[in-house]
Amino acid sequence: MARLVSSWSKGVHSIPKDYIVPPERRCGDFVAVCKDIPVIDLQKQRPESVQQILKACQEFGVFQVVNHGLTDKMMADMRVLYDEFFNMPVEEKLDVYSDKPGECVLSTTTSTSTSHYAKEHVLSWRDTLIHPCLPLEKYASSWPNKPVRYRKEVGRYAAEMRKLGFKILNLIGEGLELDIDYFKDVSQKQTMVINHYPLCPDPSLAMGADAHTDPNVITILQQDQYGLQVLKDGKWIGVEPISNAFVVNLGYQLQVISNGKLKSVEHRAVLNSTAARTSISTFFSPGSDLPIVIEPAKELVTLSSPQMFKSYQFSEFQANYLAYMSKPVPRNGTPLDPYRL
Ligand code: OGA
Ligand code: NI
Repeated sequence: MARLVSSWSKGVHSIPKDYIVPPERRCGDFVAVCKDIPVIDLQKQRPESVQQILKACQEFGVFQVVNHGLTDKMMADMRVLYDEFFNMPVEEKLDVYSDKPGECVLSTTTSTSTSHYAKEHVLSWRDTLIHPCLPLEKYASSWPNKPVRYRKEVGRYAAEMRKLGFKILNLIGEGLELDIDYFKDVSQKQTMVINHYPLCPDPSLAMGADAHTDPNVITILQQDQYGLQVLKDGKWIGVEPISNAFVVNLGYQLQVISNGKLKSVEHRAVLNSTAARTSISTFFSPGSDLPIVIEPAKELVTLSSPQMFKSYQFSEFQANYLAYMSKPVPRNGTPLDPYRL
């Protein structure tokens, strides 16, 4: 039987034991949204956006953007589409259901955590749809074809997200004084990760997404309800859901490329007892077709700022990341530790 939470959780009053997380891993007291997380207007003068983004990347590892180029309608259409998708009858969702990472996967896990579910026996209260995006000719045929407009609408959205992704990466690059187009190769791969967290009868007992840091360069996410929290100075703070904004969070690769000047951010998703929540994310990461070396940008390694990380193959990092994520929580260290100098 499919484990899809969205297929059986409607109307349940208690949490099945497979989803009850041990006390030390629960989300704890309610965490309010933090109004200090910067909301950056991308229509402002470029030097101003560059400075604001740089500061946000140094202080929080997360920020939001508005006036980013995608219309409110395009964002809202995606939310409607994924609402429809996750509310389809289970038989239709099963067409794309799989437990194995692959081209297009709908499961109760993410590809980064697939391997640990069998061992941990605690399931997350979420369904995740993952698929690579561009080039469309290569990937769109593996995407869901229900709702029938899926491929057309998501194809258009993915193309807009590519423009936005590189707009933001280039602003970050400018702030770091990197070569123009520095991020072109290291952020080639664009993947959509759509997390659906059904309404949960007791959010204190289950978890949407456990604390983690993304393995990529950046993630750009839209969300319709509260649930995303980030760790700042050892404390969880809430990211405000803003319907016309995207949340940008930094992954491990950007921490390395920036030679530690920017921080990747640990984050998690908590559940809600009054509404379902869907987050629609786009991950930008090094491609996996060609070997890609990740290292601190040469421009950022100086006498006063010595190299903090060794060079490594991204594929090797991915293997380490998976091994790390498959360890039981609480985990020691971080997947970057083997590369620190
Ligand atoms: C992720 C993630 C957060 C969310 O998919 O890596 O952190 O709000 N998602 O769904
Ligand atoms: Ni994440």
